[in-house]
Amino acid sequence: MVPDRSSSCPPAPAPDAVAVRPAVSSAVRPAVPVVDLAAAPDVVDRLVADAAAGYGLMRVRNHGLSPLIRGLLAAAGDVFGRIDADPTLAASVTAGADYAGYTGPLSVRLDDSGTATEPDLHRSWNWSTWTTAPWDRLPPAFGHLAQAWQDQAGRLLAGRFLPGLSIVAGLDLAAAYGRPRLACRINDYPAYDRDPGAGQMRAGAHRDYGPLTAVAPDGPGLQVEVGDRWLDVPYTPGELVVNVGDELWALAAVHGAPPGAIAPARHRVLAGPAPQRRRQSLVAFWSGAADTVVDRRPEGTPVTSAEYVMFRVEAADARGDR
Ligand SMILES: [Fe+2]
Repeated sequence: MVPDRSSSCPPAPAPDAVAVRPAVSSAVRPAVPVVDLAAAPDVVDRLVADAAAGYGLMRVRNHGLSPLIRGLLAAAGDVFGRIDADPTLAASVTAGADYAGYTGPLSVRLDDSGTATEPDLHRSWNWSTWTTAPWDRLPPAFGHLAQAWQDQAGRLLAGRFLPGLSIVAGLDLAAAYGRPRLACRINDYPAYDRDPGAGQMRAGAHRDYGPLTAVAPDGPGLQVEVGDRWLDVPYTPGELVVNVGDELWALAAVHGAPPGAIAPARHRVLAGPAPQRRRQSLVAFWSGAADTVVDRRPEGTPVTSAEYVMFRVEAADARGDR
């Protein structure tokens, strides 16, 4: 099932209006960068800048969100259990580009390679600062934890990552983006005891559409593409993974950054041979004000952040790969 977004979508720009970063270079580096937020601010900024220009993805330590992550991941299992027991919750997706609520199993195919693949072995619960999920159908404690994740992950991304990203983007991103927005997701990758299909993933290979993402997984499986290789992103309980997406690359390019200044991370979540245990992850997609101009059509017409992401969503839906 793909949510109906027709009722409240902004008009999507023409396909050639959106700059999509080309494939990464063949440079191969030995390890996924680690950013320790206990370091001095200028050191953190430099580490973030280097990671954004190299991998587009970094492991993050000492971020201060570990207790919240543990609590929300523990509560998330109950949410999907309630959905399994109540089909009306499963149908609770709101229409529009920025849907809130449930996206069911085998309804998404994230792979952007153009090859036919089986749908991802995945389902999710979604909410954002501009949509309303049906929280009244879920335990209040879960809603509070989810709101805390939205607030705290948003502050962390803006406060500790935008300064370093501004270095490589060549502009003050906090000023350029204005009032931030957060879209959040809990991914649930169910356990299985039969091997997945050929090439099937828990999340197919893709780059994120928006500018900046934080992910808190509860186990291994995430990989990042570097050159022609897929590298495992080592899993350590309590660590966050932060990655940059295509919109940041487009925005930097509009402001004159050189093509290689920012390297959005292409990533995926492997579906290994059976048996596999259940895997979950928390996600926070940071973006700025919806009317921020992040790209321009060839004739110069501005493309806003909302239009940019909407175009990418609609293009993926049209390919049937989302
Ligand atoms: Fe992603």
